[in-house]
Amino acid sequence: MQELFDFLREEGVEPRLLDGVKAFREAHPVAQEYTDRIPVPEYYYYGNNTWELALAALLAGKNLLLAGPKATGKNVLAENLAALFGCPTWDVSFHVNADAASLIGTDTYNGSEVVFRPGPVWMCARVGGFGILDEINMAKNEALAVLHAALDFRRSIDVPGYDRIELQDGTRFIATMNYGYAGTRELNEALTSRFAVLNMPLIKDDDLVKLIARRYPDIDMKICGQLAKLYKELEKKAESAEISDSALDLRGLLDAIALMDQGILSGAALEMCIVNKTFDDYERKLIRDVIAARIPDDLTRVAVFGK
Ligand SMILES: Nc1ncnc2c1ncn2[C@@H]1O[C@H](COP(=O)(O)OP(=O)(O)O)[C@@H](O)[C@H]1O
Ligand SMILES: [Mg+2]
Repeated sequence: MQELFDFLREEGVEPRLLDGVKAFREAHPVAQEYTDRIPVPEYYYYGNNTWELALAALLAGKNLLLAGPKATGKNVLAENLAALFGCPTWDVSFHVNADAASLIGTDTYNGSEVVFRPGPVWMCARVGGFGILDEINMAKNEALAVLHAALDFRRSIDVPGYDRIELQDGTRFIATMNYGYAGTRELNEALTSRFAVLNMPLIKDDDLVKLIARRYPDIDMKICGQLAKLYKELEKKAESAEISDSALDLRGLLDAIALMDQGILSGAALEMCIVNKTFDDYERKLIRDVIAARIPDDLTRVAVFGK
């Protein structure tokens, strides 16, 4: 955990905010039985301005909606935040069938009597956890209505037939929502108004280099720089609508590097993880040209990682 604090200090995140988080942690100790729910992040989120905005919102007691295109690190940031605040975390995924009961809890028969089996939102409320409401815009409005009182000043959950419960002081909700591509569903206004909304920026050039180098410490730094530039170029082409954003996905670039690390030649790896994400011939050619201008297609593992 100290490591994440150190990382943020090095990234230049305002120390006052980090002190605020430390005070939050001291004020909200976690019961032993829930400590294994505190995430231990594998990857760190890069973007110090976004960090500062997110920390300020959570310290001010707000719930946070992370909105932006796919692969902008929304889930990585949400998990990093829960880890930094040292809070047990419950993931709530909003598949099409999610209903109020799957969020709050349901009555189940345990063989001898009917008992309440708490859902993730209930647990967050009770324990003072962080609830990650993933892709919240995909949920049905009926399912979300039950969250209204939990998310606004009332900070409570009212389940018909049960006691009304108050949210613990440390309870926060962080929602994520993808937008920027076909199929986006808007989030209704009643819900949006209950969040501080952070528009997730595209990763900065030098942050992308740092991200790749941290994940692949052996990577040749020249190649690393070219891969980052290649990605930013695709981003520009997508912004100016020269290509669609189906091939533009940081996950794809990172996957390609992972394949090279397995010994796949650069060309084949980039083809599989970037070019093949689109099925339009014209677009594929444009993307191949961008790649070819930066990365030869026959780089071996030794060329990329020196081993
Ligand atoms: N700013 C960033 N900092 C760190 N990782 C990032 C960033 N932007 C994208 N990523 C990486 O992109 C991938 C997708 O991240 P994820 O959080 O799942 O995206 P999202 O939820 O926005 O679709 C991960 O490998 C993540 O580390
Ligand atoms: Mg996500």
